[in-house]
Amino acid sequence: MNIKRISFAILNFTLAVSALAQQPVYLDYSKPVEQRIEDILQRLTLDEKIALIHAQSKFSSPGVGRLGIPDFWTDDGPHGVRPDVLWDEWEQAGQTNDSCVAFPALTCLAASWNPDLGILYGKSLGEEARYRGKDMMLGPGVNINRTPLGGRNFEYFGEDPYLTSSMVVPYIQGLQSMGVSACVKHFALNNDEEYRHQVNVIVSDRALHEIYLPSFKAAVQKAGTWAVMGAYNLYHNQHTGHNGFLINKILKGDWQFDGVLVSDWGGTHDTEESIVNGLDMEFGTWTDGLSWGASNAYDNYYLAQPYKKLILEGKHGTKELDDKVRRILRLFYRTTMAQDRPRGFICSEDHYKSALKIAQDGIVLLKNDKQLLPLDPQKVKSILVVGENAIKMMTVGGGSSSLKVQKEILPLDGIKARFSNATIDYARGYVGDTIQSYNGVTMGRSLYDLRPADELMAEAVEKARKVDVVIMVGGLNKSDHQDCEGHDREQYGLPYGQDKLIEALSKANKNLIYVNISGNAVEAPWLDSVGAMLQAWFLGSESGEAIASVIAGDVNPSGKLPYTWYKTLNDCPAHSLNSFPGTWRADHKVIDEEYKEGIYVGYRWVDKQNVTPTFPFGYGLSYTQFKIGNVTADKSAMTEDGTITFTVNVKNTGNKAGAETVQLYVSDLKSSIDRPIKELKGFKKEYLQPGENKNVSITIDKDALSFYDETKQEWTAEAGEFEALVGNSSENIVSRYKFSLK
Ligand code: BGC
Repeated sequence: MNIKRISFAILNFTLAVSALAQQPVYLDYSKPVEQRIEDILQRLTLDEKIALIHAQSKFSSPGVGRLGIPDFWTDDGPHGVRPDVLWDEWEQAGQTNDSCVAFPALTCLAASWNPDLGILYGKSLGEEARYRGKDMMLGPGVNINRTPLGGRNFEYFGEDPYLTSSMVVPYIQGLQSMGVSACVKHFALNNDEEYRHQVNVIVSDRALHEIYLPSFKAAVQKAGTWAVMGAYNLYHNQHTGHNGFLINKILKGDWQFDGVLVSDWGGTHDTEESIVNGLDMEFGTWTDGLSWGASNAYDNYYLAQPYKKLILEGKHGTKELDDKVRRILRLFYRTTMAQDRPRGFICSEDHYKSALKIAQDGIVLLKNDKQLLPLDPQKVKSILVVGENAIKMMTVGGGSSSLKVQKEILPLDGIKARFSNATIDYARGYVGDTIQSYNGVTMGRSLYDLRPADELMAEAVEKARKVDVVIMVGGLNKSDHQDCEGHDREQYGLPYGQDKLIEALSKANKNLIYVNISGNAVEAPWLDSVGAMLQAWFLGSESGEAIASVIAGDVNPSGKLPYTWYKTLNDCPAHSLNSFPGTWRADHKVIDEEYKEGIYVGYRWVDKQNVTPTFPFGYGLSYTQFKIGNVTADKSAMTEDGTITFTVNVKNTGNKAGAETVQLYVSDLKSSIDRPIKELKGFKKEYLQPGENKNVSITIDKDALSFYDETKQEWTAEAGEFEALVGNSSENIVSRYKFSLK
């Protein structure tokens, strides 16, 4: 080696060492993250800190260019990555690279009762988000289905806190494994869409903790979500987006949440409350240049100049500001400033496969008289498909979760492809929606049809007489009041005259299969008239293929309902107790809505009141049969800090491979307070070949036996007798085991 090369190497080495010596702490990833955060904090000016805590566009907030900290981009959520909108407006940006894969709505994921699919869902979505440059997805939504009229129930996981928690944790873990933050919404008690900014919820502490908060708590403590979104409604007369009790006391205090509390878009109403009550990032405030604010909209945000002014006037110190900034920097280190973030993919084959698998696993077979289903594609000669939902894109519409997809297989197309040996005819049967586009995204197929209702029905009935089988694809459709953000449903029954149509079709052809598309239960007066019924949710990009694969029997349905399917609205406690919606106050500014049913939501109410639902919570049929054996346990008494494991054998006694979900409910046999007759505390989905059997074990600890004690303000498990109830729906309990807590 010559002298020149040696001295060049020495020079390089010296430069590298001095560069390392000068490297700021915040860029030295060998240092603990909290130390790096403090280092940034002391470098930031007041203006830079204020900038970090509010939006700079519809879906982004600034980083700190001077320090090389990137801007932060967020997007809806939760079923796919929403197309880009303009910087300052809700209109589409018109990009050509923002089409995505639509995954099934979260009700479908919940209906799969398969937590492994939660991981797959979250990871696939995270990969799409990474490709699209999004650092946080606005979802998942974990509000509880309190009434089937809830406009956004389709975005949530159903009525049960345990099922919701079990399914949302893996979703968040999958998503965040991609370096993309979840933003669990809408915290909390957001169970009305109608007048969602004015509803003040009045609920017992017990119902708050036992029904409405557990899914958020699991998201924070079990999944470690990096962000939570406040809701629009009020609680204790204070907006939940800056609600001191919910955010400071519960979320950040009791649960030790170290992430960021994000406002819902337009959910911020007060600077003082936002400062002291724990709001960390303000987005979407309506000073958007559309209503007012024009050129300096973002400066007018509650946490922008108004906050800075209070600090400069000495009315506030920077304690709260620094806490908000620390949390945001922590979020940045987890996302935009994370080292080795996995790469993203968009519309990959794997994502379509995941979307299809989740859809197939979540479809619920609700009725199957005389084994009408599955239809053999080799035997069936002629099929009539009826219904607007067979040709309507369901990935478009419904509010903020609306998507622009690269592909969506419509039910009619899926059926045509799978039953290619049969003659397939189509009749619309009814007209619900003729819109051609939503939020700037065009529907795939023209829905324009001006024929009168009678004519459409007559055509369908006439055609139905001539075919082997009729498949009607109906339900709700994500337009206003039909499973859509912003408004609740106005009726429990099917819209657009579908009840009449179903009855008429059943008279014309006894082989009538009804496929219901919705995120909610619907009144079903025609149930006895249909031969078979499938609940097919909003299934996303692979909708048609998933539905056809179940109809053809390529896939054996294994979904179970994540909510109670009431016979009439009056069977639902919120309605029978006349506590939905609430009552306007005299000033007509706030609606008080008292959750009079307390903890008795869904099957908890049905059990207590002895109501017979159309289909119970946890219900779903299969093309095969299963036998669930007697439950045994590893002990008959458990201690406060111990566990108990229940084991039960499940056997596929039919002749098709399929899956059964063993459900474990717990009943407190003697308690000092009124408790539900039973509550879901464990489940396991098993895939079994014909004749195969497996032992399923479910372990619980004292959490499964606890209730929220309002006097002590804490969770308590009382010593005494309990019973484990095992079955395959909340109504079909096949085996019981008594045990005690010492
Ligand atoms: C919705 C949120 C959504 C946000 C941004 C709000 O209207 O309630 O769920 O994430 O808009 O689109």
